[in-house]
Amino acid sequence: MKANDGQTFDYLVLGSGIAGLFFALKAAEHGRVGIVTKKHRAESNTNYAQGGIAAVTSSQDSFEMHIQDTLTAGAGLCKEPVVRTIVEEGPRRISDLIELGMRFSEREIPGFPGEIELDLGKEGGHSRRRILHAKDITGREIERALLQAVSQQPRIQVMENHFAIDLITTRKLGIGSDNRCVGAYVLNVESGRVDTFAARAVVLATGGCGKVYVYTTNPDIATGDGVAMAYRAGAPVANMEFIQFHPTCLYHPKAKSFLITEAVRGEGGTLKTIEGVPFMERYHPMKSLAPRDVVARAIDNEMKRSGAEHVLLDITDKPAPFIIDRFPNVYRTCLQFGIDITKEPIPVVPAAHYQCGGVVTSVDGQTEVAGLYAIGEVACTGLHGANRLASNSLLEAVVCAHRAAIQVAGEPQLPDASALPTWRSGHATNADEMVVVAHNWDEIRRSMWDYVGIVRTQKRLQRARKRIANLLEEIQAYYWDFIVTSDLLELRNIATVAEVIVASAMARPESRGLHYTLDFPNPDPSWAQRDTVLRRAAAEPELSREPGS
Ligand code: FUM
Repeated sequence: MKANDGQTFDYLVLGSGIAGLFFALKAAEHGRVGIVTKKHRAESNTNYAQGGIAAVTSSQDSFEMHIQDTLTAGAGLCKEPVVRTIVEEGPRRISDLIELGMRFSEREIPGFPGEIELDLGKEGGHSRRRILHAKDITGREIERALLQAVSQQPRIQVMENHFAIDLITTRKLGIGSDNRCVGAYVLNVESGRVDTFAARAVVLATGGCGKVYVYTTNPDIATGDGVAMAYRAGAPVANMEFIQFHPTCLYHPKAKSFLITEAVRGEGGTLKTIEGVPFMERYHPMKSLAPRDVVARAIDNEMKRSGAEHVLLDITDKPAPFIIDRFPNVYRTCLQFGIDITKEPIPVVPAAHYQCGGVVTSVDGQTEVAGLYAIGEVACTGLHGANRLASNSLLEAVVCAHRAAIQVAGEPQLPDASALPTWRSGHATNADEMVVVAHNWDEIRRSMWDYVGIVRTQKRLQRARKRIANLLEEIQAYYWDFIVTSDLLELRNIATVAEVIVASAMARPESRGLHYTLDFPNPDPSWAQRDTVLRRAAAEPELSREPGS
């Protein structure tokens, strides 16, 4: 494998979703930004977001109401000052997005012909209509607008098909007394070369880890790369037991991970058993619009009780033209699978959707490792607590990206990439057993689904822990023996993240928010406001072959 001298940026961003792009646009005002993205630049979790972005923009709404809804969904684990900051700064960041070219859906104000206002949607756990959206393709429209803005900014360089392998830290290099991140080793997927990138600040904007589970609403890129890299670099990672399962993923043998936005329930869609009987009133006063943890558990319970493979989501009592106009993407996609949602209910199941924990950061995105920032889904700021309120994630991404872009300006200038050691390919040879990677990948995801899913027990968690420990050992040997590829790097990352999720779940002897275990079915007040923080011991051997390891 070849290595080069690499490149030096002021700010190196890993990931090209809303958090990474918004940060880059703001930070480019005072420095040169490199964006590393492992596939095409538009391929991010953001791109698949349907629902929208929650923010207080209506006179019927207030910051206090949005804050209260967030705290209620978060089940006692949100950090209130962080919630307050993000909610209160939200409207200004929405204005920034609009200035950057984002087009949110609008509607005519009832009773005022010709006058237009933002069309606000409603989702689970929200006491008011406050979701700004672009029909049901909000994420795609955000990516379009931000990528267009990025293409006009000469100080931003986007590197597609570049996969960040690991962070370069002073601890790994054995220099200095603090642990500072000074860059990253990055695989150029097309050439097979590993580049050394140096930066004053490295920003993880890598999204979440839905692919750790067999069934997920996330695209293939969601392999927890940021959490795995930060954990290996010694940054604390918190609350990873709180994996949000979206209640309504399309159930169809040929549909891969297609989300049916919660906004469908916001507009009156009702969850029903396969016999067509509404069931959510038996679980929560907000019925089909209860917080997601409640709805996902209720569906899981109904499926287990009846033996059915799915439940139904029915919006057929709304006029067809309304459904087609408001949900064009859901309508078209379901129709491709032979389901006309204007005439028949949609078969749905829960699927892994969002990682509420992540790399511990301040509201400015700072991690405990100097020079290392994390923003968006990869970060744990304290906004989501034990269960994220729907559509709060895009809001968190823009507010924290904006704040991080101010913060990074204070990072010191560092030596450039030529001063950093190049990647050592060690005794790597070409992999000839890709079946091992494929098998381990399937086994991790199946174990996580079966043993670390919506309903957990200590016994199931122990079973998962054992299997994942074995797999990690095997992956470590494989990683050392063969040339790195995207598949191997993703496998290594999902294994690390699976290990962290299981360890976090085992460390919380209670049920709270998204973590539900039959062994401790109630919240324990002594665990309220206690995060599950994991930190990789400095002395632990690394799954890594950078110089110094
Ligand atoms: O249901 C949805 O459209 C998803 C929204 C979210 O996860 O915030």
